[in-house]
Amino acid sequence: MQIDVITLFPEIVSAPMRTSMMGRAQDKKLLDLRVHDLREFGLGRHLQVDDTPCGGGQGMVLRPEPVFAAMEKVHAPDSRVLLMTPQGRRFDQPCARRLGGESHLIILCGHYEGVDHRVIEHWVDEEISIGDYVLTNGAIAAVVVMDAIVRLIPGVLGDENSAIDESFGPSGILEAPQYTKPAEFRGMRVPDILLGGHHGRINAWKHERALERTRQNRPDLLAGPGSPKP
Ligand code: ADE
Repeated sequence: MQIDVITLFPEIVSAPMRTSMMGRAQDKKLLDLRVHDLREFGLGRHLQVDDTPCGGGQGMVLRPEPVFAAMEKVHAPDSRVLLMTPQGRRFDQPCARRLGGESHLIILCGHYEGVDHRVIEHWVDEEISIGDYVLTNGAIAAVVVMDAIVRLIPGVLGDENSAIDESFGPSGILEAPQYTKPAEFRGMRVPDILLGGHHGRINAWKHERALERTRQNRPDLLAGPGSPKP
């Protein structure tokens, strides 16, 4: 998969994407990441990229010319263009799975008070928000979205199962609590059932604890039609 990111803060994108699994995905050629500095497409001697909003209002808006120039450089017939913005549709695991099926993503990172709307009308396929809060810029959100997508590419995670048996996977509920060694730590014991080796009982226990955790932390996941049976 190829991902082109267009941002005023290439370092915010590059540093985390060089690290751990995201770095490994690139080493293994499973991800071809290209980060573009929007400033290089800026106007005039000062490489201006933004301006005051038409009709008044606070802050600055990204001008269309630099974004159009950057998009014209990277856009291809198979590209899907995402704009990171708090005005977007909320990103979730089904969205990560769907976008993981694309061959080429272009992620445009919003900044300041937003992006000239002509950019959205002309180029953007989806506006995406990572949650109901406002970040200083979309580059941080782009890293979150890329991580969620790229870890699903077969071969990126060490254990192929680890992307299946997890919260927001096909079961639709959160994961059960996990324990590791030692069996007793400062008087706190790993539940006996997990040490007994009876897989049927272990799975039943995990399902019950997963439901309990979901009821407590995310009751919304159990509420709607098509949600898992309690
Ligand atoms: N830019 C600023 N806040 C954002 C958010 N919540 N999601 C995506 N991009 C953003």
